[in-house]
Amino acid sequence: MDRHDYGAALAAIGARHEGPFPATALILGSGLGRFAEAMKVTAEIPYADIPGFPVSTVAGHAGRLLIGTAAGLPLAAMQGRMHLYEGYPAARLAIPIRTLRLLGVERLIITNAAGSLRKAWGPGTLMAIRDHINLSGQNPLAGPNDDRFGARFFDMSEAYDSALRARLAVAARAEGITLREGVYAQVLGPNFETPAEIRMLSRMGADAVGMSTVPECLVARHAGMRVLGLSLITNHAAGIAGHALSHEETMAEGDKAYEMMKRLFLRFFREFEEESG
Ligand code: HPA
Repeated sequence: MDRHDYGAALAAIGARHEGPFPATALILGSGLGRFAEAMKVTAEIPYADIPGFPVSTVAGHAGRLLIGTAAGLPLAAMQGRMHLYEGYPAARLAIPIRTLRLLGVERLIITNAAGSLRKAWGPGTLMAIRDHINLSGQNPLAGPNDDRFGARFFDMSEAYDSALRARLAVAARAEGITLREGVYAQVLGPNFETPAEIRMLSRMGADAVGMSTVPECLVARHAGMRVLGLSLITNHAAGIAGHALSHEETMAEGDKAYEMMKRLFLRFFREFEEESG
């Protein structure tokens, strides 16, 4: 979006949060919003109170910005996110990420629920995102470039930061959690894919498929933030699953794997805090 005025959003957040803003932000995907309970929350701001923030319409996406700490590490968390399939112009998805950037966020951790294209990676698998394929047909950066954040053309060779991913792998090992690594393909949705689409994605080199994450990653990379992506596999993708897919299954599997994800992140944050603090 061309030269959007972030002043009102920054003022709304500033009125509810004093002191330095966390350098790390976490976007909580489907079924993972409960992570708020693992945080010491000092401010909780509904998106509706932040001018320009789109308000999510999906069940399981609460729509609040949380500020506080997790395992001692200062952290901002977006509880609930907006999706392209909700019909927002892609550029609007840039606003929350750019607001975080202006507040001083340097690292963005993006989580999502995803379908697995690998038979051996069933529901409950955690997959660190090594790279993505944007099949949504949209891009939040289309339109005039906002050069306050970054250059028109920018590099995506390391969209997902390998150093952050390595640290996540260390935390997983320490917790005895199996962490896979793979390529995430984003489709527009809102339907789950057809089996033919899943076969296509598989041949393209995707390991998981979902309906989010890529817009946030693009906006963050444009603005020079480091990105860590984590997919929680909630189902085998269409044609691999052997049964019909549903949002209820996604939410239920998210719920089951939640404790594992929480443990992984708390260990990751604690070690981060100890090293930097
Ligand atoms: N496809 C797309 N998005 C998803 C899926 C899926 O199978 N599971 C969870 N989100």
